[in-house]
Amino acid sequence: MSRFIEEEKRTHYCGQVSARDEGNQVVLFGWVQRRRDLGGLIFVDLRDREGIVQIVFDPDSDEALHAEARKIRGEYVLAVRGEVRRRPAGMENPHMFTGQIEVTVSAFEILNEAKTLPFSPEDEDVSENLRLKYRYLDLRRPAIQKNLILRSRLAIATRQYFNENGFIEVETPFLGKSTPEGARDYLVPSRITKGAFYALPQSPQIFKQLLMVSGFDRYFQIVKCFRDEDLRADRQPEFTQIDVEMSFITEDDIINMMEGLMKTVFKTCLDIDLLLPFPRLKYADAISRYGKDNPDIRFGMEIVDLTDIVKNSGFKVFSDAAGSGGAVKAIRAEGAASLSRKELDGLKDFAAVYGAATLVWAKVNAADWTSPAFKFLTPQEAETIGLAMNATEGDLILFTAGTQKVVSDVLGNLRLHLAKKLNLIDPKALAFTWVTEFPLMEFSETEQRFVSTHHPFTSPFIEDLPFLATDPARVRARAYDLVLNGSEIGGGSIRIHRRDIQAQVFSALGLGDEDAREKFGFLLDALEFGAPPHGGLAFGLDRLTMIMTGADSIRDVIAFPKTQKAACLMSEAPSEVSSEQLAELSLKIV
Ligand code: AMO
Repeated sequence: MSRFIEEEKRTHYCGQVSARDEGNQVVLFGWVQRRRDLGGLIFVDLRDREGIVQIVFDPDSDEALHAEARKIRGEYVLAVRGEVRRRPAGMENPHMFTGQIEVTVSAFEILNEAKTLPFSPEDEDVSENLRLKYRYLDLRRPAIQKNLILRSRLAIATRQYFNENGFIEVETPFLGKSTPEGARDYLVPSRITKGAFYALPQSPQIFKQLLMVSGFDRYFQIVKCFRDEDLRADRQPEFTQIDVEMSFITEDDIINMMEGLMKTVFKTCLDIDLLLPFPRLKYADAISRYGKDNPDIRFGMEIVDLTDIVKNSGFKVFSDAAGSGGAVKAIRAEGAASLSRKELDGLKDFAAVYGAATLVWAKVNAADWTSPAFKFLTPQEAETIGLAMNATEGDLILFTAGTQKVVSDVLGNLRLHLAKKLNLIDPKALAFTWVTEFPLMEFSETEQRFVSTHHPFTSPFIEDLPFLATDPARVRARAYDLVLNGSEIGGGSIRIHRRDIQAQVFSALGLGDEDAREKFGFLLDALEFGAPPHGGLAFGLDRLTMIMTGADSIRDVIAFPKTQKAACLMSEAPSEVSSEQLAELSLKIV
């Protein structure tokens, strides 16, 4: 057993020793980041979660100790006692919090040795697969530790905020009923009921609504959710929601409460003062101005509709699209006329990925345009377009034509692509916006029926109810998303609390009475036993942490994340199970 661990107590974290401690004895525990031997002295950078401090072994003060220190290697675990002293003049490191001082060691112990690591915590250039295989070593890297520490503070600040506002945290089950809507479920076989399965929750949606029926009034939960969907840079199969529900409220009440949460957590975790209220955009405007329902409004370059201007144009590409119910729209990149032919071809290829049959470019000169399309436009058309686009010399205009959806997709994505390419985004900017008035349902080509945009419990606008049977696409939802820097960080809605309206919505979704009963019977019953008007929202805690830490990947804010293939490279989950386990569950692999 270690004498140090038994008898000494840590006085400081390594990263917290400072010039104020000069002359004091300190006891430190940590990992060896680096050892250097210089002019007879041995220097070790000792690291713990709070940072690094330099410790020194001096042969003149204790020869035996110095000899023992020669055994120290990278990533050994040390306990150290020593005196804090100022570094000699010229040896300070202004980039380190502890850079003014060092600790001269009077006693130490190697608590444990370490083999040579597959990579050093200092290496920036390590493949992600290797990092994930040895995730516990990867988590020694200060950058990732910082992310997880911020995540913890964010969760604590969230709990405090909700506690202060009268919310009650209630846990809801992980072993639930499969009701696939949206993503695919993760299924768990039941041993006791052969052939039956639980599903892991995609969200606690129904349970939190039931808690409102029970009268909890204000609920929140920081909770894991599971979705078996294709992964992207901001998606994980298991992720965490800050889940909220409130009774007797309107959209504004929820929005105000959530804006208050954002203000509190940004102040507590990052000392940033957010300006409230956040702007609000209707879904239709988000699509027409930014081409997306999660618009990045950190920069302008808004989409301009030119359909009316060009509908009778001699330029067939434009007039044909306008004449067949489609659209002609454009974006203007300020001062980007200097892009080369090759770069413009690159933009065309990029647009083609989103379905653009054409991407027409025009460089704005003092008197006219340089553009392959210029000769097809009358000078008057060009002038009207120029005015509509607010074009000035040196700008680049990019036009596309096609169906409304393709035009929005192409320009929405091109806008983001160009903003990155032209460095238009201030990395410090925080641009929140609410998106409201989503359509309640959308027609799914694959399923050949209407599906919920959010989920089937979202309340329609009461005045749109008559369209449910005649023109479902026209019905607006009382739903709202919160978007931050182009990322959907939260979404929610006012719910249906009346049984008759819920039945109408199910029927518009093509869900028959029997089906609906089979899937959501308990919720339907609950709506008949005094359900209060209610609504809520859920934030993606991982996505919020990503933006707060500046992480590029959601995996950098989750301690033990999954790969794009939903695997854990460290534990090798998912894995095969024994035939005994399968037999017990009455399962056979086909
Ligand atoms: P929604 O499905 O919009 O709403 O999810 C809420 C928020 O959760 C985050 N999110 C994800 N984060 C990481 N990986 C994923 N796979 C993932 N999927 C979603 C997003 C999203 O905004 N029950 C409703 C909420 C409600 O209506 O109250 C729901 O789950 O940031």
